[in-house]
Amino acid sequence: MPNNSEENNIVLVGFMGAGKTTIGKLLAKSMGFTFIDTDAEIEKEEGISVAQIFEMKGEEYFRELERNFITNFRRNKCIISTGGGMPCYKDNMKKLKILGTVVFINTSYDLIIERLKINQKSRPLIKSGLDDKNEELHSLFALRQEIYQSSDKEIVGDNSPSSILEEIRKITCD
Ligand code: S3P
Repeated sequence: MPNNSEENNIVLVGFMGAGKTTIGKLLAKSMGFTFIDTDAEIEKEEGISVAQIFEMKGEEYFRELERNFITNFRRNKCIISTGGGMPCYKDNMKKLKILGTVVFINTSYDLIIERLKINQKSRPLIKSGLDDKNEELHSLFALRQEIYQSSDKEIVGDNSPSSILEEIRKITCD
């Protein structure tokens, strides 16, 4: 896996609803890697959900937890599915690149909105009653594109899971 990282993990980044968890689990299974979901790891550590962390301790505290998590991560042969905001704070993208090949799952805003409508309760940044005109969410999506695009690799997230899987395997083995 020739990139500048010291480790051989694959790190998936992208907006909420881009498909990081679904793709990450399939990829881990097909490659014999361990699947790591950063939100789930933080929840385990704190003993409460991400939504509760936002509510009780605030977003800034959550961002510190995310940063500590990647700073202290020492494992290899993992597929790491990151929270949508993780690469966007401080020099987290640089830290993620040290852990492995960072792949941006670039899913269209329309598809993301469709998915988030179904599963918005667990996501504290989603306002209830999400609709296509959720301007705040669209601004966040647009704002984050530049940092996501500084990933090592990028794939289109609107394709079928099997073709995404194949593509990630191809681009991370080149
Ligand atoms: C966030 C995305 C969420 C979670 C938290 C904040 C974000 O993860 O980390 O609610 O800032 O985009 P998913 O991308 O898995 O939904």
